Amino acid sequence: MFRSHLVRQVVRAARVQAPRAASKTKQQAVPPTRQFSSAPRRFDKEPDRDNVDAATTSGEPGESGDHEGQYARTKDDIRVEYPEEEDLPPSMPVQGRGGFHFKRTLAAFSLEGRVGVVTGGARGLGLVMAQALVTSGADVAIVDMNRDEAQRSAQGLIDTFKAENPGADKIPKVTAHFCDVSSPTSVNQSLAEIIKVHGKVDNLVTSAGFTENYDAISYPYDRMQKLWGVNVDGTYLYAVAVGKHLMERNAPGSIVMIGSMSGSIVNVPQPQAPYNAAKAAVRHLASSLAVEWAHAGIRVNCISPGYMLTALTKKILDDNPDLQKQWTSLIPVGKMGRPEDLMGAVTFLASDASLYVTGADLRVDGAYTCT
Ligand SMILES: NC(=O)c1ccc[n+]([C@@H]2O[C@H](COP(=O)([O-])OP(=O)(O)OC[C@H]3O[C@@H](n4cnc5c(N)ncnc54)[C@H](O)[C@@H]3O)[C@@H](O)[C@H]2O)c1
Repeated sequence: MFRSHLVRQVVRAARVQAPRAASKTKQQAVPPTRQFSSAPRRFDKEPDRDNVDAATTSGEPGESGDHEGQYARTKDDIRVEYPEEEDLPPSMPVQGRGGFHFKRTLAAFSLEGRVGVVTGGARGLGLVMAQALVTSGADVAIVDMNRDEAQRSAQGLIDTFKAENPGADKIPKVTAHFCDVSSPTSVNQSLAEIIKVHGKVDNLVTSAGFTENYDAISYPYDRMQKLWGVNVDGTYLYAVAVGKHLMERNAPGSIVMIGSMSGSIVNVPQPQAPYNAAKAAVRHLASSLAVEWAHAGIRVNCISPGYMLTALTKKILDDNPDLQKQWTSLIPVGKMGRPEDLMGAVTFLASDASLYVTGADLRVDGAYTCT
């Protein structure tokens, strides 16, 4: 009984082996073309490889042409250091985005009665998002390391509001506060100052951050620490300070962290490994705190912008003129974004229009990360 079962097994095994053995014989006639490869040869493929095949992993490097992967590599020779303050032009509030209007819209988008803090709000994306909060009804505290520019921008937001809303009975309170977000002491001092002036905080937008381009091997360690200090520690420290304040007040709130599409993809061709890792950390910090603070009614979301034309990206493009073409060639909508393109996203996430949205990553990138 046992022996006959064994015989059946052997015969079955031999049958199963047969077609493989036949195809192996056929393939042995083909001269080996990839000596270095240990990958098994596909039995259903003809030996004469066509062009399409050469463009797969079965082709030799470069076999399908010298364009292989040309838009999918970082280039070590691209280096961009974060510029000195005086080398960056100041940002101005955007015009014509606010003002009275008579279009019907959801009341849930209003931030009337709220106080918002925007870190890195003196310039660039932060300033435009601060303007979105003001336009939507909030009072705003701009927090920035650049004291003078923060002061000018706060005044600029008030002036723009007045110009766009002549006769408005309430002028929003917009204040400027010095802070180095990478320092816990500075974060706590600035928040205490804001609470003293505004009485409370309901919303936080963490936009203080920067990028630099060095290849990973040459990245100066002190610069890498600074980059993570501002982008990661700074985001964490301010979020925790505001989270604590909201819990002490027993009040709900919404925190919006500015990440980047670089937290999900690797930009090319400029090398920026520490920045990419920092923004991945920001994205996951938003999810983690969303879960941790859900019980307190504090929502935490992330906005991940794609390539937006700010003073800094303009400088990178001025220094590397070929980049613009390469960047836009990789964006499905074919264009870079403007800072204004974040105004709706930040208002949505800060307001009650997104009451059930927390832990989300809202990508505003022209579909870059879809491809
Ligand atoms: N511009 C883009 O294309 C783009 C794309 C994706 C994400 N982002 C992110 O958006 C955020 C804003 O970028 P941006 O282009 O507006 O940059 P920006 O340089 O124009 O503005 C950044 C602001 O942050 C301030 N800041 C820097 N370090 C600080 C610190 N330690 N403490 C307090 N303030 C500090 C600066 O003074 C400046 O006002 C950054 O986090 C950036 O990584 C930008």
